[in-house]
Parts: sequence; C-alpha cells; structure tokens
Amino acid sequence: MITSDELLVRLLLTGYRSLARPVLFTLANGDPEEIHQHVITLLSEIPDPVLDRIQEYVGTRRDPVTVAGVDFPGRVGVAAGLDKDGLAARAWGALGFGFAELGTVTAHAQPGNRQPRLFRMPHSRAIINRMGFNNSGVEALAARLDQWGVRRGNNALDYPVGVSIGKTKATPLEDAVDDYLHSLRTIAPYADYVAINVSSPNTPGLRSLQDREALTQLTTALVSTAAELNPADSLPVFVKLAPDLAPYDVGGLIAACQDTGISGLIATNTTTAREYLHPSELHLANQAGGLSGAPLTRKALRMVESVAAQTDLPIMGVGGIMTPADAQAFFDAGASLVQIYTGFIYNGLALVRGINTLTYPDRAR
Ligand SMILES: Cc1cc2nc3c(=O)[nH]c(=O)nc-3n(C[C@H](O)[C@H](O)[C@H](O)COP(=O)(O)O)c2cc1C
Repeated sequence: MITSDELLVRLLLTGYRSLARPVLFTLANGDPEEIHQHVITLLSEIPDPVLDRIQEYVGTRRDPVTVAGVDFPGRVGVAAGLDKDGLAARAWGALGFGFAELGTVTAHAQPGNRQPRLFRMPHSRAIINRMGFNNSGVEALAARLDQWGVRRGNNALDYPVGVSIGKTKATPLEDAVDDYLHSLRTIAPYADYVAINVSSPNTPGLRSLQDREALTQLTTALVSTAAELNPADSLPVFVKLAPDLAPYDVGGLIAACQDTGISGLIATNTTTAREYLHPSELHLANQAGGLSGAPLTRKALRMVESVAAQTDLPIMGVGGIMTPADAQAFFDAGASLVQIYTGFIYNGLALVRGINTLTYPDRAR
C-alpha cells in the first residue's frame, strides 16, 4: 500500500510537469513574477519538521566534494536570481540542492526595472528576464541569515551559502568598487563564498566591468579585502561570466582572475543572443533582457569547455541545464558543480533528483 507521504513525494517528483506546473503557470493570471513570489513565500513557510520529512524522501544528495576549500554535500545548486533575498533559504537543502547562490544583492535596496520584466517561453523551454537586480539590499540578507544562526562554515542551513553581489543601479560605474566592497564586508561573516556578478545584461554598463582592466581593479580590491577580513582563511571569491564574451576576451579575463587570486569561475549568466527560439515565440525575441533555458545550453557548455581548457580554477557550470544529461555534459566539460534556474522552473524537483543520481568525474579542487 502506498502511504500518503509516498504519494506526496511521487507527486513532487513525477507529477510536477503534468500536474503542478500547469496549475502554477495559470495562477495569478499567469503572471510569472507573481507566481514566482508565491512559490518562494510558500517554500519559506514550510515548518522545519515538514522540511525534514521532505528531505528524507526527496533531498538525497550524493558524493560530497570540496571546491575552493568549501565542502559541498551535493553537486547541484540553486542559481543566482531564483532566491534573491534568501527568503526560501531554509528549504533548498531539503529539496536536494547541495548549495544555493542567494542574491544578486546590491549595497542598497532597489526595486529593479518596471514590470513586466519576466517572460516565460514554454515552447522554447526558456525565459527572458530584465529584472534589474530587484532586491532588499545586502543588509537585509545579512540580517536574515544572522537570524537563522548562519555563519560562514557552520552549515546551519545544511548546505554552503553562496551570495552573489552586484552593483547598485544608482551607483556610478566609477564608484562600483566601493559599492561591491560594502556588500562584501556586510555579507562576509555569513557566506561560504561570494560571487561577483559583472555579467547581468540588465544593469546599464555592468558588463563593462568585464573589461580586463576594470575586472582586475575590482577583483584585486575584493580579494584583498576578503583576505584582510579573514587572514587565516580568506573567503573564496568567484566571478560569474557572460556567455556572450568573445573568445579572445575570455582568455584575458581568466588571466586577470588567476592573477588577482579569484577562487573560481561561474559560467554562465543569461545571453543577449536570441537563437534557437520556437517559431511560435519569436514575437518575444525583441523583449530586452537575458535569455536563459534550453536555447542557452550549447553556448554555456562551450564556454565551460573553453574556460576549462584555459585554467585549473574550479568552474560552476550554469546555463540551459534542462535534463540530467545536460548536467552530465557540463561535468564532462570540466565543471565541478552545476547550478540551475530555468530547468528547475520547467522540470521541478525531478531535475534536481536526476542530477543527484549522476556519476561525477573526480573534480575536487
Ligand atoms: C528571472 C531570472 C533572474 C535572474 N537573476 C540573476 C541574478 O540576480 N544574478 C545572477 O547572477 N544571475 C541571475 N540570473 C541568471 C541565472 O543565475 C543563470 O545564470 C541563467 O539563468 C542561466 O541558467 P538557466 O538556463 O539554468 O536559467 C537570473 C535568471 C533568471 C531567469
């Protein structure tokens, strides 16, 4: 006889695409951003004993790995942007994630771009977003983590916490370094690693921080401050790259990251390209913003291959991982860990579970 727990779990794992997703996608008049907020709120309200039950059934993570000195209990993480303010942070481990990259948060709270700013393209298994770093600010995230007793390295949430930091829109580019430094100092006691976001297409001028000189200045400041804050055990700093960089520029950026003591790379953010869209959704192609999901898979994978060929720095692979086989390709291409966003929206927990059952190359770094 099947118990009610087992039924719930089967529904969570196998019924998502056929049952839960169609319902979810029509709630709130189909407004994807509102639905996303509802789901995050729902996840944030699950009581601890229920989370424990869910974890028993769903959250089996395998094959822990140490990357950049951080112990990851599993290889698949929540990509930045999915839980910007960390509201659902208590739930991710129970759902099978081995880490979560919260944020992107900025030094000052900001509303982001005008709505609508999030467009679902189900036939293309894709999303276009121009959220523009809507978030409650780095201090609010630090306070939330503090309230839950999270401290760097204490595993209070049952997984390592990454925090993505970006530039406040109102801060002029010439003051960007100080803006990032404020976020780093505020979040350093709570994060297990920090990711520098210089690759979002939705903050004017942000991607110019990927110029080699600008990136060198920024990473030098962040890495040296991280070392000053914790001289014995510096907080690892990762850099997240755009998939649209020219191959020549990638080499220069990797060199800059290595020279300045960056701990690893995250490849990739969303793309400004509009390839591989389903014909029925081409009318959305001229919406400004970053494209994620299936149309990005090949491009992100190629970037991971290219980065892996040029450096021994650890890589987190992200971009269009829609199936466990996609994740396997990212691991085979050189990623030590992977992250998902759009694949999770379309495929739910079955994708997390599937990635958790793969065989991984030995890639502790
Ligand atoms: C709605 C949305 C918001 C995002 N916000 C952020 C963000 O704040 N910071 C960031 O580094 N990446 C952000 N991303 C990019 C994702 O982290 C990821 O790099 C990208 O979507 C590719 O992965 P995917 O195809 O699995 O979604 C966002 C993506 C989406 C779809």
